[in-house]
Amino acid sequence: MKTPNNSCLLLLILSSASVALGATRADDYFTSISHVAKLCSSRARLADALLNYAETESSRLERLRQFADTLRSNDGNVSGIEHPVEAYVTIRQMSREWKALLGQCDCTETYQLVAKSAGIRPPAEDDYDGAADALLRLQDVYRISAAAMARGRLEVNSKNRSGDGEQTDSGPLMLTAEDAIHLATRAFNTSLLSIGMDWARLLLMSDAFPDWSTERKLSRALDLLQLAAQLPSSQGGSQIGAFLENMWNKTSGNLTKAAAKISSQIKVISDGEKETENYKEICREGSRTNNHSSSLTCRLAVPHPFFTLAPVKEELLNSDPRVTFLYDILTDRESDRLTEVADPRLQRARVGGGVFTKIRVSKSAFLRDKEDWSVERVNRRLGLVTGLNVSDSDPLQLGNYGIGGQYEPHLDSKGVGLAKGNSRLATALLYLNNVKQGGGTVFTRLGLRVQPVKNGALYWHNLRRNSSDIFDTLHAACPVLEGSKWVANKWIYYMGQMASWPCGLSQLE
Ligand SMILES: *[C@@H]1O[C@H](CO)[C@@H](O)[C@H](O)[C@H]1NC(C)=O
Ligand SMILES: *[C@@H]1O[C@H](CO)[C@@H](O)[C@H](O)[C@H]1NC(C)=O
Ligand SMILES: *[C@@H]1O[C@H](CO)[C@@H](O)[C@H](O)[C@H]1NC(C)=O
Ligand SMILES: *[C@@H]1O[C@H](CO)[C@@H](O)[C@H](O)[C@H]1NC(C)=O
Ligand SMILES: *[C@@H]1O[C@H](CO)[C@@H](O)[C@H](O)[C@H]1NC(C)=O
Ligand SMILES: *[C@@H]1O[C@H](CO)[C@@H](O)[C@H](O)[C@H]1NC(C)=O
Ligand SMILES: *[C@@H]1O[C@H](CO)[C@@H](O)[C@H](O)[C@H]1NC(C)=O
Ligand SMILES: *[C@@H]1O[C@H](CO)[C@@H](O)[C@H](O)[C@H]1NC(C)=O
Repeated sequence: MKTPNNSCLLLLILSSASVALGATRADDYFTSISHVAKLCSSRARLADALLNYAETESSRLERLRQFADTLRSNDGNVSGIEHPVEAYVTIRQMSREWKALLGQCDCTETYQLVAKSAGIRPPAEDDYDGAADALLRLQDVYRISAAAMARGRLEVNSKNRSGDGEQTDSGPLMLTAEDAIHLATRAFNTSLLSIGMDWARLLLMSDAFPDWSTERKLSRALDLLQLAAQLPSSQGGSQIGAFLENMWNKTSGNLTKAAAKISSQIKVISDGEKETENYKEICREGSRTNNHSSSLTCRLAVPHPFFTLAPVKEELLNSDPRVTFLYDILTDRESDRLTEVADPRLQRARVGGGVFTKIRVSKSAFLRDKEDWSVERVNRRLGLVTGLNVSDSDPLQLGNYGIGGQYEPHLDSKGVGLAKGNSRLATALLYLNNVKQGGGTVFTRLGLRVQPVKNGALYWHNLRRNSSDIFDTLHAACPVLEGSKWVANKWIYYMGQMASWPCGLSQLE
């Protein structure tokens, strides 16, 4: 008989130990060595199972390690986050990818601990969708093709979106095929048909997303198109359905052929769409001063003796209604301090009735007059510059526009304070930082676009003397293309100006 090797010996000892502990049973191992032999011979099978397990585990661990590497490679580079595609990828990693990973490790607690110590809320699915919507909004307003967006290229395109320049769209991809599908789906869900089609088309292009097989790309792209075909007719769904059927018939259902045909003819559908909101055009192409008034000037103004030594650099951008730009109305120290004070207080901005909408995508906070020296100083200065009574005004509102952050055309005076017979007479919009790209303020009826200049302010009146709205002050904040945008708003009310305004006009009116 074979001498049992060490591990079997160990087994025997363990079995004896259990006897010693009082466990007796009919099928015990220690009374017959032949049973032990059987046990020993099943070791190989156990070994296989263990190896198999270890293999699975190590590839699981490898996936975890790879994900950790991905996270680390982008960590700490906050400047990258100013890039909307980077921001989208970050949110995807920290929501969708992380969630998928949770099925593979017992790390829920780890993430929660990290999140807690970093003071963050782990992003959820709606953050991921929101980030996609922001990219789509940028594509929509600035006419950025899917091919360019997938490479993180953010040139504003004043030509047609699906027009030229595609052959030059080479270079590394920042987005994955999965992202393209997510973006297309979101686009179809939010009635951005032509942009969704552009993403589907990118998926159909043979050279995009080489890590996916052609088959896989084609079938997912067709799924997307079928999703689009289910849109209501008013949004072009039936048109796409007919297009698909036609392509399908023409190629006798050959997937490869159909894909080639679809990608070459899909443009026809997208180009049929009409752009409705002219604010997008002004965001792309509006000019800082409009051309019809040659009398627009710059001057040094002394609205108050306070400014004798340092006059206000004032540029007239539009004469009726009067819109002026005031340079260096703040100092760097004041601007930086205001953002610092507001940052922890920011909340997602709401419009009418307190609902979150895509009309206004930003975060804001009202700062009380006594909240900080910077607030007091800025309020006082604005009073001196405008010659208005700032006691009757909203508290200073700080705003931060994030990825694709925007505010669609609106009047500041509309519906505000009307119950009290009061409304916002004047608006001072202060820029607290420079924005890399996009994020201009546009006056849609005036064709005016003003890019933020740190420490500068836009100033205008929303009301006439008889308190009626000046509709030509309709304005909007274009989506931030790259960077982050910090502003402060001061809205000065009508009623408080009874003493100063009706008789003596402020010099900046
Ligand atoms: C940070 O990201 C930006 C934009 O992606 C990149 O240009 C820069 O090189 C990065 N810096 C570091 C230190 O990785
Ligand atoms: C671009 O759009 C204009 C209308 O905005 C249209 O007339 C023109 O044909 C389009 N060009 C191309 C190349 O699609
Ligand atoms: C699109 O809308 C459908 C139906 O409302 C919803 O089930 C789906 O989750 C949405 N997809 C995305 C990516 O938002
Ligand atoms: C596609 O083929 C089917 C069956 O042959 C036919 O009924 C249908 O009308 C065709 N559709 C188009 C758009 O040609
Ligand atoms: C589909 O068309 C491609 C290209 O013309 C061809 O190579 C392929 O064999 C066709 N597949 C089928 C299933 O007919
Ligand atoms: C302003 O408009 C006139 C015609 O109205 C045109 O000749 C001129 O080139 C324009 N100037 C600029 C700077 O656009
Ligand atoms: C106020 O004045 C404007 C133009 O001066 C006029 O169109 C408007 O009707 C006036 N509104 C009231 C309420 O008097
Ligand atoms: C300024 O506005 C405040 C608040 O409405 C008011 O109490 C005060 O009388 C106004 N001052 C002047 C000079 O009109």
